[in-house]
Amino acid sequence: MSDPTEFPVPEDWAKRAWVNAQQYDEAYKLSTADPEAFWAEQGKRLDWIKPYTKVKDVDYTGEVRIRWYYDGTLNVSANCIDRHLPKRANQTAIIWEGDDPKDDKKITYAELHEQVCRLANVMKAHGVKKGDRVTVYLPMIPEAAYALLACARIGAIHSVVFGGFSPDSVAGRIQDCESNFVITADEGLRGGKKVPLKANVDEALKQCPTVKACIVVKRTGGNVAMQSGRDFWYHEETAKVSKDCKPEEMNAEDPLFILYTSGSTGKPKGVLHTTGGYLVYAALTHQLVFDYHDGDIYWCTADVGWVTGHSYIVYGPLANGATTLMFEGVPNYPDASRFWQVCDKHQVNIFYTAPTAIRALMREGEAPVQKCSLKSLRLLGSVGEPINPEAWLWYHRVVGRHHCPIVDTWWQTETGGILISPLPGATRLKPGSATKPLFGIQPLIVDAEGKVLEGATEGNLCIADSWPGQMRTVYGDHKRFADTYFSTYKGRYFTGDGCRRDEDGYYWITGRVDDVINVSGHRMGTAEVESALVAHPKVAEAAVVGYPHDIKGQGIYAYVTLKAGEEPTEALRKELVQWVRKEIGPIASPDLVQWAPGLPKTRSGKIMRRILRKIAENEFGNLGDISTLADPNVVKDLIDNRVNRD
Ligand code: WT7
Repeated sequence: MSDPTEFPVPEDWAKRAWVNAQQYDEAYKLSTADPEAFWAEQGKRLDWIKPYTKVKDVDYTGEVRIRWYYDGTLNVSANCIDRHLPKRANQTAIIWEGDDPKDDKKITYAELHEQVCRLANVMKAHGVKKGDRVTVYLPMIPEAAYALLACARIGAIHSVVFGGFSPDSVAGRIQDCESNFVITADEGLRGGKKVPLKANVDEALKQCPTVKACIVVKRTGGNVAMQSGRDFWYHEETAKVSKDCKPEEMNAEDPLFILYTSGSTGKPKGVLHTTGGYLVYAALTHQLVFDYHDGDIYWCTADVGWVTGHSYIVYGPLANGATTLMFEGVPNYPDASRFWQVCDKHQVNIFYTAPTAIRALMREGEAPVQKCSLKSLRLLGSVGEPINPEAWLWYHRVVGRHHCPIVDTWWQTETGGILISPLPGATRLKPGSATKPLFGIQPLIVDAEGKVLEGATEGNLCIADSWPGQMRTVYGDHKRFADTYFSTYKGRYFTGDGCRRDEDGYYWITGRVDDVINVSGHRMGTAEVESALVAHPKVAEAAVVGYPHDIKGQGIYAYVTLKAGEEPTEALRKELVQWVRKEIGPIASPDLVQWAPGLPKTRSGKIMRRILRKIAENEFGNLGDISTLADPNVVKDLIDNRVNRD
């Protein structure tokens, strides 16, 4: 029998969920007919110091202005911790599972309060003030959550840099936002391997005169250099200060954090999120999409270095008084059963991961899953890239044992939270579709000219109106914000994704339509990889495109033209891959490198990436019109010398 193509809402789900199908339809209509009223009501899920009277002020034209709840004041850390204390002081806020299965611990809301206050006081003692930028470069340890919340407590703006990024990438991000304080660890631990975080910071700080102090968490006890007057041990500093710290009163539109993300051109952009709207949106979506109820154990496997970790490990869950699991390790260490063992060990009810992890685990067969009970699991989630129906069906059958709905959640760093996703008690599922928009979200599919397409159709995905979790600006470059997101299709937010809508109004994200690639759910600008490659002394020119990869979703395919006289050897190929790893980080390493004596260019010198993409995809039979190329002969050479990927 063939696999079903649709999965109805299980009866028990329709009964117990916050939202059933009928409630979804009604509330969705109201939320889009009168967004002000809908969001005015939703704002009440937070504790405000001074309640807002203004809800929304948005203009997607001209300079672009987005403000929500903008005369209200609040503190994010108080909303994620203090307000829960009367009822939940002894409830576990964070379950931490270490890289080594023997290491774990539970942190209650009372303990979380103390730890966050102590770190906040340490920052204050070192002169960190409201509005200062604090760079966080930590492994997945509870201190990462403390660091975010401590910044929020004193009104400092955090900028988390993923632990897999290189010293140069760290330095670039510190310089861009002129950060003056860094929080890191001696070393990280992932899959039994050490990550030299402090050594990377030392390297980065050589180029960062703005940084006055660096706090170092002792994670492995490895030997690290501590520069007197600049570097301080976390455990020593936090022991010196009071365990109480009054939360700073913040305006709803004061910045909460910056998170760098890749675009189609230039350096990564500092996506800026603010205080009130972001938290309202993270809390609402965490509650509804994961149907979170008191007592549930919730696990999102992302890293706090990405937006998923910000919104759905830390802010959304803690704003809802949830128990959130934080995992330091990787899916295949000590073996391919680890995720499922952790689910059993901590009785996880809601499990949220990325398609790339599912595909990698699928390859290991069913035995590592079948040997675990997984009785506690009730809901599964997917995020970061399109999930192919085969992986969806495996996840549903083997992990979910046929009874767990899967929420395929589409969103972006820029959106702050999930925009298109099933609600488990309301939405009939179709494997591979992110299904329907959440409340207040109005997706539009437009053609290349910006004409809005109706009904079942395919095109570019835009969003018509704002929602509170939307980014407000690119840090330090508001013009880039307006140009990147609001100029392609006037008056609309352009996502950069292609999308199909079927006859039931379901959305199917088809992937990026710009020069951004998605490698294992990590977003990479092809321009960044190219600029790393051409920085190598032997490289004259490089063009980078994505190609379909069984596990990673997309792999990185680099066409490299060497300088005259340089030999294209296997040793040089390896050297270039290492070079990119070192320049950007392991996630940017090219999977395939093709030596290209020339690149296909138009007569005006523009590289025709369409052609390079087709060749990388092995679809060179249909290259389209190549007559505008300055030298059509380069194409034949590229086809003849394409890299064999098996
Ligand atoms: C891009 C955003 C969402 C937080 C993590 C990634 C792709 C994301 C899905 C999904 C298909 C998806 C899009 C998007 N994407 N989720 N469920 N189905 N594609 O955030 O690094 O900002 O990347 O990831 O292409 O534009 P990000």
